[in-house]
Amino acid sequence: EKIYIGVDLGGTSVKVGICDEQGSLLHTYEGPTGTEDGAEAVLDRIAQYVRQIVSDSAYQWEQVAGVGAGIAGFLDLAEGVVLFAPNLGWENVAVKKELESRLGLPIAIDNDANVAALGEAWSGAGAGLKHLVALTLGTGVGGGIIIDGRIYQGFRGMAGELGHIKVVPDLEAIQCGCGQLGCVETVSSATGIVRMAKDAVQRGEATTLSLNEKISAKDVFDAAKDGDEVAIRIVKRAAYYLAKAMAAVAVVLNPQRFVIGGGVSRAGDILFDEIRKVYAHNVPDAFTQGVDIVPAKLGNDAGVVGAAGLNLQ
Ligand code: BGC
Ligand code: NA
Ligand code: ZN
Repeated sequence: EKIYIGVDLGGTSVKVGICDEQGSLLHTYEGPTGTEDGAEAVLDRIAQYVRQIVSDSAYQWEQVAGVGAGIAGFLDLAEGVVLFAPNLGWENVAVKKELESRLGLPIAIDNDANVAALGEAWSGAGAGLKHLVALTLGTGVGGGIIIDGRIYQGFRGMAGELGHIKVVPDLEAIQCGCGQLGCVETVSSATGIVRMAKDAVQRGEATTLSLNEKISAKDVFDAAKDGDEVAIRIVKRAAYYLAKAMAAVAVVLNPQRFVIGGGVSRAGDILFDEIRKVYAHNVPDAFTQGVDIVPAKLGNDAGVVGAAGLNLQ
């Protein structure tokens, strides 16, 4: 029996999973990314996690038919290089080569959100659909475009960087990790939501959120569900700009479904209802008919499943 290993390298944690040929996740392992230690240390850690997951499982190293990695950054796929990863602080890291030499196996790489989209298209919320767009809301905002059942890569491999669609008007915008002003990532990521909450508390706005506790995006959603007006406004702002970006994507690509994943997507109806409403207000009617916006079915596992699937694409 062959197994496929997927690695999801995010700004905060590295997730590793073992999948079978159908895309069922058999095992998972998660450890810290530790970006502050630099790229070499992170690459060592990934190799260590991959060996660890196999030895923790009932499978043998010889059964590994492929290893794939999804990486949160702009990649040059032909070169196997991370050109720029805002949330990892990486520039020009030869990930493919470095991981192959550490593991002694060929490694397939792609952007983390591209592989999440592939995972959802393979065995998740987009199973059976040929045209879908996935968005991941976490440390950053990622995007992945599936056209005719395959990841759309673009010229170098950087297609689908939907988090860097600029949606916030300049006067209200802050700078994104990519260097631009007002990207959707600055407001709709977990990081953006937490930043808006902290700002509100610091301005002395009336809210149950407080700086005494380390505010997480989940705290903001929980407060919003409890009726906290400041939290509600922040959630609506995150949803508003995300939906604006989605509307722009819809008229360009006409996907059948938008799948939204990542930690933030666990917020549920409070987020999704708002996204659907704003989306519908921002596209011609024909782009709402037969098009839906759904939470990722694989949740936070979409990345590892899709990364494992890179070797089957
Ligand atoms: C990066 C993307 C990544 C996304 C989610 C963004 O900041 O530019 O490459 O997919 O974060 O991790
Ligand atoms: Na992408
Ligand atoms: Zn940006």
